Amino acid sequence: MSAILPPSERVWWKQPLDRVELIWIVIALVWCLIMFFMMPYWHVYGKQNLANEAFRTTPAEFLKKTEAMIAQHKVREEGAQGQKVPVVAPPAGSDVYLVARLWQWYPILELESGKSYRIHLMSMDWLHGFSLQPENINIEVHPGYDHVLTVTPTHKGTYSIICNEYCGINHHTMISKLYVK
Ligand code: CUA
Repeated sequence: MSAILPPSERVWWKQPLDRVELIWIVIALVWCLIMFFMMPYWHVYGKQNLANEAFRTTPAEFLKKTEAMIAQHKVREEGAQGQKVPVVAPPAGSDVYLVARLWQWYPILELESGKSYRIHLMSMDWLHGFSLQPENINIEVHPGYDHVLTVTPTHKGTYSIICNEYCGINHHTMISKLYVK
């Protein structure tokens, strides 16, 4: 049978299966099933999975909590004149708020290595993407949803946060840092 010409016998699906064909079908099926069950398995036992914790709130309420945290734990400011962003060093184990908005991450976080934090993410306007580099953490940031990431940074250094959902003319400038000391 050729793939170009129509089959000589119209009822081709009733032809007996070749042994090799059957082996391939079985291999493909088994592999499909392995891949399928790896999804729930990895969700539960994989180390890189994030706690999927999210709840509804309003941008105004979220911003209020963020400002309260900044007022309490601000250590300095960074950035060019006129667009300074506060740097916040919240205590270990605390709730940490990070606002995404056109086109900024606010504030800059400074965390301690080996300590756990609950990082809350939310957008003030529309969809943004939280991407932490070079770690492989990607979270969609919605307005109206407080998305909580429980993280324990293990490596000291300066991480980059970039927006990876197209959010308008200055999407490419929506970058920030995260310090781990
Ligand atoms: Cu925010 Cu792209």
